[in-house]
Formats: sequence, structure tokens, C-alpha cells
Amino acid sequence: MNRRSFLALAAGGAAAASAAALRHGWAAGPRGSINAAATSLVRSQAGLLEVDLVAQETPIRIPGTSGRALTYNGLLPGPMLELQPGDAVQIQLDNRLNQPTNLHYHGLHIPPSGTADNVFLRVAPGQRQSYKFALPDNHPAGLFYYHPHHHGTVADQVFGGLGGALLVRGDLDRIPEVQAAQEEVLVLKDLPAANERSGSGVMLGREGSILSVNGQVNPELKVAAGGLLRLRLLNASNARFWRLALEGHTMHLIATDGGSLEQPLPLQELLLVPGERADVLVQMASEGGRFRLKNLPYRRLGRPGMGGMGMGMGMGMGRAGSGQGQADVIATVSTNGAVAPQPLPQRLLAVEELPSPPRTRRFVMNHGMAPGMGVAFLINGQSYNHARIDTRVQLGDTEDWELVNTGVMDHPFHLHVNPMQVISRNGRPEPYRAWRDVVLVRAGETVRVRIRFSDFAGKSVYHCHILDHEELGMMGNILIEA
Ligand code: C2O
Ligand code: CU
Ligand code: CU
Repeated sequence: MNRRSFLALAAGGAAAASAAALRHGWAAGPRGSINAAATSLVRSQAGLLEVDLVAQETPIRIPGTSGRALTYNGLLPGPMLELQPGDAVQIQLDNRLNQPTNLHYHGLHIPPSGTADNVFLRVAPGQRQSYKFALPDNHPAGLFYYHPHHHGTVADQVFGGLGGALLVRGDLDRIPEVQAAQEEVLVLKDLPAANERSGSGVMLGREGSILSVNGQVNPELKVAAGGLLRLRLLNASNARFWRLALEGHTMHLIATDGGSLEQPLPLQELLLVPGERADVLVQMASEGGRFRLKNLPYRRLGRPGMGGMGMGMGMGMGRAGSGQGQADVIATVSTNGAVAPQPLPQRLLAVEELPSPPRTRRFVMNHGMAPGMGVAFLINGQSYNHARIDTRVQLGDTEDWELVNTGVMDHPFHLHVNPMQVISRNGRPEPYRAWRDVVLVRAGETVRVRIRFSDFAGKSVYHCHILDHEELGMMGNILIEA
């Protein structure tokens, strides 16, 4: 979002900025700890999570940025919401932006209709909308994500700053080794620099050059030497892929988007695409020290030699795509005191194996020309139309979806309401079972996923989670029929 759009937004929003919201936000002063999101934690009490979210443009204190962003309650990231399976949720959204917005509960298995995860609701400027739903009793524990989802304004609003973490507690948190770890939720978000022209790169997907972690630049996180650190990472960026490595340490993946793995998976680096989450354990070196959490370069455009865009248009590649250059340091982990080395868990939780279904559908992702739209991003040759049902499935069915990327850019495919399991990538079986709601389909790749449409009928969407691509048409409507 550029300065001009900010000013336009300011006309509708800033005047109404609530002093109370600002008191809780960055106006309260810079924070030294990485745990900023936790200071604005809203927890459910006696089975009810109740919170008011005011969407507005507010001042932020993030060095290098323009000093303003779109926030919930003056906070960037928005308040962290923590709840338990079975809880009732009541969220009042107050739109003080000058454009429509709404809320999506990314990754939650709740109804796509009514006042639950209904992305077709439109909350006009100056309006309020109350969201009411219940989290199922058997909902998996995990890190989820709330963000705006009004088609036409979602990319600008997420790029502008809106979004927050949503933590569901449960079984995984009760595994003794996991419970003993020091837990840190890190919301990763890039923001445009003050002088950055953010208009470039819509086709590739806009990235900002300021890398924030819980609204801070290179914060410090303190943990005991020998201790176990549990990092819960959320990619809240519009388009940036975060490729993370912690100096001198192995990360052990224990959960993906939708919940626990069966056993920890050691990783030297972790790729997180937009909307994706990961839960990793790190055994801190017993000798202690200072270690940099780095974001390594990643090229979202297909390999060199794939023929470029071939559309004879300025794709605004420029610096977007973070393909070149050096690793960025996004946080520093330093040890403070020491404890006897803490063990990793051996086993985690069972991950259900879905039976191989009779039905396979194919979704081909590419870009091309769409009537009346110019360049569009397409699924099965079509650009998004809110009135069209693209995919009809039967409630209770399991299906395989073959996600085919015939373009030259990577596309993270996202489905609402029901999680997916990756079965294979380019025919190679996936080495472990995991529930995901965002699946990266690289340029030229075919990924087979398996989905069971459980519990909730209704209309919802799937789309590329590079939100600029979603806005440019790479989305479809799915109707789950009872
Ligand atoms: Cu995180 Cu449909 O979105
Ligand atoms: Cu979503
Ligand atoms: Cu895409």
C-alpha cells in the first residue's frame, strides 16, 4: 500500500481512532521483548472468547516504515486470540476503514456460512458485524490465522497490516516435552519501507522490504541454554515466502497448519508460504550464545531458463520476489542462564490416514487473458466470478485433488474449512502425513492432495494465497452439498 492509499484510508479511519485502542498499541512505546503479541493476548474464559476488533489505520512504531498501518485495535499484529475446543466465539468487527472488509478464520474447521467463516459477508465502511460460532469439541489444536477476506480489498488490507494469530489449545500442548518447552508465537510480516513504491510487483505479488516479527525489527528472544524452544510461526505476508534457518541449530517440525505430525521431523531450514504455519522445537545449544534467525532468499519465479513471463508486459519483478541477495536477520535468539538439556518428544499424535477415494479432480493454475479483465490469474482457465459455482462436492466425501501449476510462478493453494493431506508431488509420495490448509505448488509442479469434506455444508472458496493473485482472479467457489 502506498502513501496515497494510506492517506485515502486515513480520511475514513484515523479521525475515529480510539484512544483506548492506541493505549494498548504501539503508542505505548517500543517493546524490547519478542513477545509483543502475547501482551495483547485475549483468552477465552469459561468457554467464551469475546473480543472487539476495530479495523482502522493507525500509527505504528516500526523503524523504516511510513509509520502508519492498517491494524486491529491499533496493534500490528492484531491481538492474539487463544481458545479451547468447544468454546463459543463472539467477535465484534468494527470497520473504520474507508473500504469494505470482513473476517476470515483461516484454517479453522467451522461452518462457512452465517456469522461463522463466511467470507461472502461484506462489512461496509462505518459498519459493524458480529461473528458468532462455536469451535467443535474435537477441533485439533494448532496455530490459526484471522485476516480480512473481502474480495477486492483483501490483498491491500493484508499487505497494509491486518491480521493476527489464533491459537487453539489441545492434545499437542499436553505432550510433556512440548509442555516443558518455552513457547513463542512469531507472526512474520513484511511491510513497505517509507519510500518504497508498493505498486510494483502486483503481478508477482507485493512484498515489503521491512521484515517484522511480532511488529518488531530484529527483536531479541531469550531462552535458557540447553532448554527447549517452541517456535510457532505464522506467515502473515501478502506474498513473501519466508525461508527460515536458525544459526547453529536444527529445527524439529512438530506440527503443520492443521495440527500435529506423528513424530518430530528435523529440518535445517523451513519454508513458510503465505498463510502457512509451522510449529518447531529447537534444543538450544548447552554452551549458550547468540544465534541469528535468518530469512534466506527464495525465488518465487520458476527456475531461470523457463522462458520468463513471455507476456511482453512489465511484470514489476524489480526487487520483489526476494530471489537475489543476502539472508536477512529477522530475530536474534540469545541464551540467558542454563538448564539441564531437555529432551525432544519421541512420538506426537496419530494422523489419520484417509482412504484412497474414487474421485480425482484437476485444478490447473496459470495466468492468461480474461475477458474484460486483461491479465488474470486463472484456475482451470477461468478467472474468479463470485456468482459461479466452480466445484460441487458431497458432504462426507473424500476426494483427491490434483493441483497443477503450468505457469512460471509458484502458487500456494489454499482451501477453506477442510484441511488437506499431500499425497504426492510430481508423482513422488509425500514422506510423512500432515494436515495442511496451504499447499505450495511450484512452477511446473503437480501436487496431489486428499480432502475429506466433513461436518459443514455450504459455499466457500479455494485460492492462491499470494493475495494479489487471488484478487487477480485465482480463486474458485466450492459448494459442499448436504
Ligand atoms: Cu488465509 Cu482464503 O485465506
Ligand atoms: Cu483461509
Ligand atoms: Cu499465486
